[in-house]
Formats: sequence, C-alpha cells, structure tokens
Amino acid sequence: MGHAPKPSAAPVVTRTYRIAVIPGDGTGPEVIREGRKVMEAVASRGRFHLAWRDYDLGGARYLKTQETLPDTVLKELRDVDAIYLGAIGHPDVKPGVLERGILLRLRVELDQYINLRPVKLYPGVWTPLKDKGPEQIDFVVVRENTEGLYAGVGGFLRRGSAEEVALQTSVNTRRGVERCVRYAFEFTRKRAGRRKLTLCGKTNVLTYAHELWQRVFNEVASEFPDVTTDYAHVDACCMWMVKNPEWFDVIVTDNMFGDIITDLGAMIQGGMGIAAGANLNPQGVSMFEPIGGSAPKYTGQGVINPLAAICAGGMLLDQLGETQAARAVEQAVMQVTATKLKSLAAGQMGYSTSEVGDLVVGFLEQHKSSP
Ligand code: IPM
Ligand code: MN
Repeated sequence: MGHAPKPSAAPVVTRTYRIAVIPGDGTGPEVIREGRKVMEAVASRGRFHLAWRDYDLGGARYLKTQETLPDTVLKELRDVDAIYLGAIGHPDVKPGVLERGILLRLRVELDQYINLRPVKLYPGVWTPLKDKGPEQIDFVVVRENTEGLYAGVGGFLRRGSAEEVALQTSVNTRRGVERCVRYAFEFTRKRAGRRKLTLCGKTNVLTYAHELWQRVFNEVASEFPDVTTDYAHVDACCMWMVKNPEWFDVIVTDNMFGDIITDLGAMIQGGMGIAAGANLNPQGVSMFEPIGGSAPKYTGQGVINPLAAICAGGMLLDQLGETQAARAVEQAVMQVTATKLKSLAAGQMGYSTSEVGDLVVGFLEQHKSSP
C-alpha cells in the first residue's frame, strides 16, 4: 500500500538447482507432489529455479524388474544438487530388500553420514506430553547415518539348526564417529539455541563402541568451549525426552539409537505427519525425506498428511543455501498447523492431502503480498 506499482517483469532467475525426485512407494508420491508444489511456489518468489527429474525406484520397479538401485541411476544421483525422497517400502517385498537395496545403499554410497532430525512442536499441534508446548519441545537429533549396527557386518553360523548363531556387529570407526560428533558441535554452535549438546549412548554396557564415542566427544568438546556438553544413556534419554524435553537442544547419537529415539521424537512433535529428516553429506549430495514410511493402507486416498514431506522440502532448500525460502516454508507450515488443521493424523486433518499443500502455498502467497 502506498507504493507505486512495480513494472511487471518476469522475475529474473539467477540460480538453478537440479533435484532428483524419488517418489517411491505407497503414499510417497502423494506427499512428494505437495512438497514440490510448495517448493515451486517458494522458488518463483525467491527467483531460483528447480529442475526436477523423477526416478521410479521402489517396490513397483523391483517387483517388475528385480532392480533396486541400478548403477546407471546411482551414477546420475551422484551428480545432482539434492535428492527428494518420498518413501520406500512395499507390502509384497520381503523386509530389508528395498530398505537395504535403496535407502540404506544411497546413504552409504553418497556418504550421507549425518541424519538430521528436528523434533519441534509447531503451534496448534497436539502432543501426547501433558503440560508441554512449543516452548518445551524444540531440539534436533544428529544421528550417525552410515555405520553402527547398520553397517551390515555379521552372518549366520549353522543357520536353521538348533545350534544356530546370528551375529550383527556394530561398526564404529574413529573417522566416522569423529566427523559425526564434529558436525554436531558445529551444528549446535550455528543453531545458536541454548548451545547444549547431549551425547546419547550406552557407555555402561557398550564398553568398546561407546567408549570410543565418549572419548571422541570429549576431545572435540575441548574445541567448542562455547557449547555446553551433557551425556545421557539411551534409556534415560528416552525417559527425559518424555519427561523433560526442554532439557535438550541438540542430541548426537549412533545410527541404531538415533533410529529409535527419533521415532519417539516424532511422536512428541505430533506424529509422522510432521516429522522430517535430512540425510546429509555436507560435502556432497544430500537426501531429504519425511521419516514416516510408505503407509500402504492409505495409498491413493488423499488422506495422508503432506506436511512432513513439505518440511523435508524446507530442509532441502536450507541445504541448498536458500535459507530465506526455507524459513518461509516453515513459517507457512506453522500457520497451517496453528490455524487450520484439526489434527495431523491421516484422515483426520479436516482437509485432503492436496488441500493441505494448497493451504501452505496460500500462506506463502500471503507473505509475498505483505510489505
Ligand atoms: C528411518 C527408517 C529406516 C532406518 C529404515 C526404513 C531402514 O526407519 O529412516 O529411520 O532404519 O534408518
Ligand atoms: Mn526409523
């Protein structure tokens, strides 16, 4: 208001990013569609361009061709600016085939050694934690993403016999632990929250693996005098996440514990409908995903919540360096949760999947027109 109308010129595109999209299985494609819609909306106002390319990896392709992640696809994925993933997992495929063959393989091949999972309760979102609100639930889990029990080291002895033995070894390398811990310290410093980093482990039982984690953590800590450090055994950590989530700012932990505590985290932030994660290679190609699964029973019904995928899109933009755009997406999501959705649960939002995407875009537009 009060400004002369600007001459109408098409916005000048200054930056182009190549984004590989893996919509995947089940409801993956439905939520990814909404994420793209939101990212497109924010890109046009941010004057950057997103060049999308779809890859049909997932259960359907596997059932047709027996392929999980063909080398030709992997080669192309090494060369993009980011990967946007819906969900991997199909009820007709044996557990582990797609997870190991696609998701875990991508994390390792692309050396995405950090799995970053914000646990943030947005306004208006119901949490099962009594007397806790957005002020109390706002922390980030830094999960090591390429080693530990996920390394796939182990085997069977005398499989199928009464004497059978199954071994699954946790791999913890000095280099792998150190780069994860270092990332966590740097992230904690940059986040400029309470500047507190908690190591979550089990040093009283895993006296080799987590002794290494503890030693590395203490060493790196000495380089970050401005970061307060803390330690919690994983069982106690689960307890505190429920009882006193406000104690946490950033938590760093190994792959398996990180997997488990981030599902707990997702529940206290309102469920899988909102929980997003980033598989980061800070020097390479990163991949962004809603952390919930493919939810096959909801496929094609338009009832699944796309906010987790939209938030993952926000994290993707942040990683590209489009921080303003990332912030705009988060703000718009927060307005949707605060003022629109009845619930975050599938089928109970009061809106369809695509309507929720439209609501987010609507709030983006509103900001655009305000001075
Ligand atoms: C996750 C998922 C995966 C994991 C599965 C699907 C292999 O649960 O991203 O947390 O365990 O890492
Ligand atoms: Mn998980």
